[in-house]
Amino acid sequence: MDTATPVETLRVPIKLGDRSYDIHIGCGLLGDAASWAGLPASSDALIVSNTTVAPLYAARLAAQLAGRHRRVLQIALPDGEAFKDAATLGLVYDRLLADGCDRKTVLYALGGGVVGDMAGFAAACYMRGVPFVQVPTTLLAQVDSSVGGKTAINHPLGKNMIGAFYQPARVICDLDLLDTLPERELSAGLAEVIKYGPIADPAFFDWIEANIDALRACDKPALAHAVRRSCEIKAEVVGQDEREGGLRAILNFGHTFGHAIETGLGYGQWLHGEAVGCGMVMAADLSARLGLADAALVPRLQALCRRAGLPVQAPALPLARWMALMRGDKKSEAGEIRFVLIEGLGHALVRPAPDALVAAVIAAHTAPA
Ligand code: NAD
Ligand code: GLY
Repeated sequence: MDTATPVETLRVPIKLGDRSYDIHIGCGLLGDAASWAGLPASSDALIVSNTTVAPLYAARLAAQLAGRHRRVLQIALPDGEAFKDAATLGLVYDRLLADGCDRKTVLYALGGGVVGDMAGFAAACYMRGVPFVQVPTTLLAQVDSSVGGKTAINHPLGKNMIGAFYQPARVICDLDLLDTLPERELSAGLAEVIKYGPIADPAFFDWIEANIDALRACDKPALAHAVRRSCEIKAEVVGQDEREGGLRAILNFGHTFGHAIETGLGYGQWLHGEAVGCGMVMAADLSARLGLADAALVPRLQALCRRAGLPVQAPALPLARWMALMRGDKKSEAGEIRFVLIEGLGHALVRPAPDALVAAVIAAHTAPA
């Protein structure tokens, strides 16, 4: 990628009838009035952020919103997956009610996937639904979590188990906000970028392999392409299956193993994207053992995840724990675990697999205790 190439602002539409909206992707979007034009503005704004991101960007967002809303309120939630829970969500409702916010109040989710999922769920529930805007500040949130309307909090017994489908009014992906993102978080976001290759677009998979170093160096044209292509693929899938009746489940490639890692270790030990990266390698191996995918996909994904800075060996958990955790996955039906598997590069399907094969995959990819 030519780093001198200026990044044009792009718009990717999410076509969902009266719930349609645009994803804006570019540089300098936080300070660009065009980012906010046309959004609901008559009443209050509440910027929902966290204690890490708010000091970096909340004042700049508040300055943009000041002329558009009656009041611009802010709340900074404690930072971390461990706080994606009912108690922390309650803080948002406390603030909205204590400040007398009405049903035209607009919530602005300024943060990564944790803030976005929680602010979106708060918006879905407050007074039975108020508008919200996603301003994702991590790569993972820009390529995945801010798009498509899945909102949720965790329960101690399962990840994202309490939630709602609720679409934002707009998503603003300002690539400049990624400049302050820690390297480990950028790598975690790359896992969700890589995901789109095997499930939907072999040429994009090739492109990621060729540009992984530029992406890790936060090269803006490379990031713009990665965010755009990821959002286009997600838009296509969500446009066909908003509420995950079938097709949308392919976006969970790597997540069945990955969620078991996250929940099994305790939220926050492995980053979500790290668990997804390792989970994709395991799901690719399961696909190969079932004769669906070429076995060469496994070392190829492993190598790319390693180059992206992601762990590729799963932590040691007892097999019974793995199975119990995966049975609790939202894709499970009647206690049967269903995996997202690759059936030829660029195509995914969802199906169960024999326990013995799953156990073999876990054994093959687990680090020695
Ligand atoms: P995160 O929200 O925890 O953010 C990662 C860390 O980076 C946090 O410490 C955060 O404070 C910090 N941070 C965020 N932006 C920053 C910036 N610009 N500069 C410096 N620090 C910054 O994690 P995440 O990876 O963004 O999101 C993971 C969450 O997203 C998980 O809870 C996962 O379940 C959820 N998710 C949801 C969907 C969906 O469709 N709704 C999809 C994928 C993931
Ligand atoms: N991240 C999976 C989905 O949005 O469906």
